[in-house]
Amino acid sequence: MVKHDIQQFEVKTEPHYRVVGSEVALYEAAYARRVPVMLKGPTGCGKSRFVEYMAWKLGRPLITVACNEDMTASDLVGRFLLDRDGTRWQDGPLATAARIGAICYLDEVVEARQDTTVVIHPLTDHRRMLPLDKKGEVIEAHPDFQLVISYNPGYQSLMKDLKQSTKQRFAALDFDYPEAKLEAEILAHETGVATETANKLVQVAHRTRNLKGHGLDEGISTRLLVYAGHMIAQGVAPEAACQMTLVTPLTDDPDMRQTLQAAVETFFVC
Ligand SMILES: Nc1ncnc2c1ncn2[C@@H]1O[C@H](COP(=O)(O)OP(=O)(O)OP(=O)(O)O)[C@@H](O)[C@H]1O
Ligand SMILES: [Mg+2]
Repeated sequence: MVKHDIQQFEVKTEPHYRVVGSEVALYEAAYARRVPVMLKGPTGCGKSRFVEYMAWKLGRPLITVACNEDMTASDLVGRFLLDRDGTRWQDGPLATAARIGAICYLDEVVEARQDTTVVIHPLTDHRRMLPLDKKGEVIEAHPDFQLVISYNPGYQSLMKDLKQSTKQRFAALDFDYPEAKLEAEILAHETGVATETANKLVQVAHRTRNLKGHGLDEGISTRLLVYAGHMIAQGVAPEAACQMTLVTPLTDDPDMRQTLQAAVETFFVC
């Protein structure tokens, strides 16, 4: 019998999440029927925060796995470990979540190799089970278990995309940066900057988001705006704060940096 300490996966305090549209109600309906959910959207737009909030709201433990291309099926499912007393099975995060009835969040799932991703297939259809081939056991998922994955559309190459047979196991919610007023409220709440400053930061971001596909792979995310807000709230001059959090991380191209600096100066230099 494999035992788990559920407490360590509980979301104990309410995460700050500003509802953007109908995503909470739709997610709740999907969870009520245990439909697996895919969250699609650019980096730093609130996907992870949303899952943490939903796990808290539904009172379910949350197990998050950051996927990468070196990840193997055993990293998800589990493996035998050697210790003094011989071999001991250790559940991977997916097996743990299936046993305890957690929400399992596979972040950036497209980074994992396709032969790794297929291990989620039997858990995400009517079977709701996870075969542990090496252990000779089949876990029947706990009734509360649900799988959620995140996916950044647009970054995929042909080599790196989900198989149709994986995609078509999920209902999907589109995420994007919140509209200007809401995003400014989020910044003010998260960092303590004044509303006026938050509004300016959002306007800088909007300029860069228009440059997506025209020299920038992605515009400034809500996450970077939060960083900028923190630096400013910490007493750093807005120009320096923006340079460090909104310009330098985004691009190495000197022309594009100048364009971004000009956008910052439009709003932050008197
Ligand atoms: N609706 C929201 N309510 C509250 N905070 C938000 C919201 N959207 C974004 N944020 C802020 O933006 C930050 C980044 O969001 P988050 O980490 O959830 O991004 P993500 O979409 O998971 O990005 P990635 O794809 O890179 O993992 C959060 O830490 C939070 O401060
Ligand atoms: Mg995330």
